[in-house]
Amino acid sequence: MLLHIDSSADPTADSVTRRLTADFAREWRALHGPADYRHRDLTATPVPPLTGGYTRLGRRVEREGFVPPAKVAALIESPAEAREWELTLPLITELAAADTVVLGVPMYNFSVPAALKAWIDRVTFPGAFAHPDTGESLLAGTRVVAVLARGGAYGPDTGRAALDFQTPYLKAWTGRLGVRPEHFHPVAAELTRVDVLPLSAGQEEAAAASLAEARAQLSRLAAVG
Ligand SMILES: Cc1cc2nc3c(=O)[nH]c(=O)nc-3n(C[C@H](O)[C@H](O)[C@H](O)COP(=O)(O)O)c2cc1C
Repeated sequence: MLLHIDSSADPTADSVTRRLTADFAREWRALHGPADYRHRDLTATPVPPLTGGYTRLGRRVEREGFVPPAKVAALIESPAEAREWELTLPLITELAAADTVVLGVPMYNFSVPAALKAWIDRVTFPGAFAHPDTGESLLAGTRVVAVLARGGAYGPDTGRAALDFQTPYLKAWTGRLGVRPEHFHPVAAELTRVDVLPLSAGQEEAAAASLAEARAQLSRLAAVG
């Protein structure tokens, strides 16, 4: 199953990440079959931030050791915890069912949008992706394609690489969930606001090259599966 997630606050076709994730999904579905597909738009349907019910239930689950999601409901002790679990379980189930996840991730203030962070916080429930018998990750075979877009440039020769908190953050998070490092594919389109930002003037060619390279990388990744 392909899980397609968008998090740009811009709902229009001006959004670079939305255009690229849509192209990826179209190519993937043409090659691997259209049916096995879910699209989650975190701006149109935001994931609510965590509350105390989530953290209380999470601590109880941690004390019990590895509790598979199917057995968490039996540990719920209050309506607040039940509400939080109702919001969380469908997201866990959806991610666990995905073979490939394509994440649209605009850079907001050097990092990921709050809408995406809310989904990440909620879906990363204790033990949610651990095999109940072995503790091994259920996401060891899952591929994550992170489509990044930023107004600036953060490559190794820009002197600004240390300001990119998107890529290292997503690498750390997917790694913690048990996604293999070779299954995490960050693809960045840079200088996306070259048309409007005076600081980017004269960088039109570099912007076009970055977008073309991102498209080519995504086509290769969609073909793999
Ligand atoms: C709230 C906000 C914060 C942003 N912060 C940064 C930033 O820290 N660095 C940067 O290079 N671009 C920044 N940008 C520009 C976006 O990363 C850029 O417009 C990108 O293309 C957004 O993705 P989208 O086109 O899919 O909406 C920011 C844009 C917004 C709206």
